[in-house]
Amino acid sequence: MKHVGSSVFPFAFALLLSFSWATWAHTHENFLQCMTLRSENSSSTSKVIYTPSNSSYSSVLQFSIQNTRFSTPATPKPLVIVTPSHVSHIQAAIICSQTHGLQIRVRSGGHDYEGLSYVSDVPFVLIDMINLRSISVDVENSTAWVEAGATNGEVYYRIAEKSKTLGFPAGLASTVGVGGHYSGGGYGALLRKYGLAADNIIDAQLIDVKGRFLDRESMGEDLFWAIRGGGGASFGIIVAWKIKLVPVPSTVTVFTVNRTLEQNATKLVHRWQYVAAKLHEDLFFRVRLTSVNSSQEGKRTIQASFLSLYLGVIDKLLPMMQESFPELGLMREDCIEMSWIESILYFAEFPTDESLDVLLNRTSPTRSRFKAKSDYVQEPIPELGLEGIWQRFYEKEGETALMFLTPYGGRMSEISEDATPFPHRAGNIYSIFYGVFWEEEGTAASERYISWMRRLYSYMAPYVSKSPRAAYVNYVDLDIGTNGKGNTTYRRASIWGKKYFKNNFDRLVQVKTTVDPANFFKNEQSIPLFSFGWKELISGI
Ligand SMILES: Cc1cc2nc3c(=O)[nH]c(=O)nc-3n(C[C@H](O)[C@H](O)[C@H](O)COP(=O)(O)OP(=O)(O)OC[C@H]3O[C@@H](n4cnc5c(N)ncnc54)[C@H](O)[C@@H]3O)c2cc1C
Ligand SMILES: *[C@@H]1O[C@H](CO)[C@@H](O)[C@H](O)[C@H]1NC(C)=O
Ligand SMILES: *[C@@H]1O[C@H](CO)[C@@H](O)[C@H](O)[C@H]1NC(C)=O
Ligand SMILES: *[C@@H]1O[C@H](CO)[C@@H](O)[C@H](O)[C@H]1NC(C)=O
Ligand SMILES: *[C@@H]1O[C@H](CO)[C@@H](O)[C@H](O)[C@H]1NC(C)=O
Ligand SMILES: *[C@@H]1O[C@H](CO)[C@@H](O)[C@H](O)[C@H]1NC(C)=O
Ligand SMILES: *[C@@H]1O[C@H](CO)[C@@H](O)[C@H](O)[C@H]1NC(C)=O
Ligand SMILES: *[C@@H]1O[C@H](CO)[C@@H](O)[C@H](O)[C@H]1NC(C)=O
Ligand SMILES: *[C@@H]1O[C@H](CO)[C@@H](O)[C@H](O)[C@H]1NC(C)=O
Repeated sequence: MKHVGSSVFPFAFALLLSFSWATWAHTHENFLQCMTLRSENSSSTSKVIYTPSNSSYSSVLQFSIQNTRFSTPATPKPLVIVTPSHVSHIQAAIICSQTHGLQIRVRSGGHDYEGLSYVSDVPFVLIDMINLRSISVDVENSTAWVEAGATNGEVYYRIAEKSKTLGFPAGLASTVGVGGHYSGGGYGALLRKYGLAADNIIDAQLIDVKGRFLDRESMGEDLFWAIRGGGGASFGIIVAWKIKLVPVPSTVTVFTVNRTLEQNATKLVHRWQYVAAKLHEDLFFRVRLTSVNSSQEGKRTIQASFLSLYLGVIDKLLPMMQESFPELGLMREDCIEMSWIESILYFAEFPTDESLDVLLNRTSPTRSRFKAKSDYVQEPIPELGLEGIWQRFYEKEGETALMFLTPYGGRMSEISEDATPFPHRAGNIYSIFYGVFWEEEGTAASERYISWMRRLYSYMAPYVSKSPRAAYVNYVDLDIGTNGKGNTTYRRASIWGKKYFKNNFDRLVQVKTTVDPANFFKNEQSIPLFSFGWKELISGI
């Protein structure tokens, strides 16, 4: 389909393609008609539907794509984009897609690592939630209703507008959308104090496969459980979340301390592993690892950046660090006191004197091609193991790679593994984000960087969680549980299912089978239907 119009195809093939194009053109006409008829407010449907013949189709499609690996001319594109401004548009899109045999993809912030929210190999409709992003903050009750198309930045901004002492424990990047982010867990600098975004959701609105508008009460506790960490794509379309806001002090403290290998980075990172998850829960203290130019001409080194948020003032933080981690040599000059909302800018890597309005800017400053993965660490990695990571960072592709080590412990250890589908709780010292980024176009470059990432991941195997080697569903990775070539049969699903959800996978499969028995809401790694005999298949691996 995506090659229609190219004249290089052999005649017969071209004929076949134009034939199928005509068929799909017909389907898509019917889909549009269906949308108009179905929408409660049909006068407004034409304003929210884009086909490739609309001049703004392409800019609407590109707008929130974060991983530009999935915005090439060869990337499959949606037949139709719907940008609902009213719930009835979502309901119509769900019903009409089923009637006309089209798949859907749902996008909120567009930050999916594998492009799953806006790419599919089969003809599909993209439902982009960008217009449904209102936020209403209720300070008196410390709650807010947040529509799925809102971003983290918008949520934080609207909270701070009304209160200096309320916050929300979600992710660090301001342009991430809450529709996908809260669905898969969602963590940020408050995770050791308050857990994940998904741990702080108290109600939700969802449109199910039959087009019904459900809230917590009408969807029932099983489905309400599944959507708080089970990943976005499997159960329905989230319209809005009701979140519980959390107290934050009016003054918090941040610091960044950079150390290279010449400044004992290896020893410090090694030691950090014994300290970070045991610190007071008011202290979030993560590590970023990158390779940088050494002060010695022509040589490279590794830089460990220790990045921290403390929910209190410098005078309390310093003695705490002196006691727990004197090796770091934290000084008063390294620390900055600020409001919680300013710390949001700090962690999103905006200048802290930047206007808060930057949080409302939905255009990410850091779009690029990338490949990312995740791991969980339960035993400290020995220094020798860390040195092997450095070796890989010295390779050409490693120059643009980074790792984040995010400490767990605190509140994360108190929440039981089955409270939500997100199972990575007590026993984990920290999680790892691995990312490699590149500018070069073309598949050859992609393959080089992706294979570098796979080699790093395979190197890490002895040092991280095992049976299963756990992974974070918001860092979706299509390599997991496949042969690396994207074969996603059910047996494979049981592999990545256990990695993302551990024992919660079985319950997710049950909920899925009940609420979407025809598997309409699907992508390459959505929750599969229960199928008799799958346990036997797993044990046969
Ligand atoms: C730059 C960057 C920084 C990040 N930082 C963090 C971080 O600090 N902490 C963290 O936990 N994660 C982080 N992530 C990962 C992020 O949580 C996930 O990528 C998340 O899924 C993005 O949500 P989205 O709505 O932006 O993405 P989308 O691409 O829109 O959606 C992601 C998935 O959710 C589904 N989905 C989207 N909207 C809906 C909806 N309304 N209803 C049902 N399903 C839906 C999509 O179909 C897709 O499967 C980061 C990602 C990036 C790219
Ligand atoms: C229908 O949509 C139009 C345009 O978006 C809007 O002005 C009007 O209020 C809507 N009517 C109803 C009943 O929702
Ligand atoms: C797309 O084009 C159609 C046909 O010209 C038009 O009716 C519709 O309003 C356009 N969509 C948008 C969102 O402008
Ligand atoms: C707080 O919640 C109560 C009970 O749900 C509600 O009656 C009240 O209106 C809420 N307060 C505000 C300011 O919305
Ligand atoms: C730490 O290093 C980063 C580059 O990796 C730099 O941007 C930042 O300013 C440094 N911070 C401090 C406090 O030195
Ligand atoms: C590195 O650590 C050693 C002891 O562990 C210490 O003597 C030395 O001063 C440290 N170097 C730097 C640059 O901090
Ligand atoms: C690092 O060094 C290389 C070559 O020595 C140079 O090309 C590059 O610009 C340097 N990078 C930075 C960030 O200084
Ligand atoms: C939003 O951010 C992008 C990326 O950083 C920038 O190019 C753009 O100018 C910003 N827009 C506004 C209105 O500030
Ligand atoms: C995918 O995996 C299944 C189960 O291992 C196997 O039967 C099937 O042949 C594979 N398909 C492809 C296209 O490799």
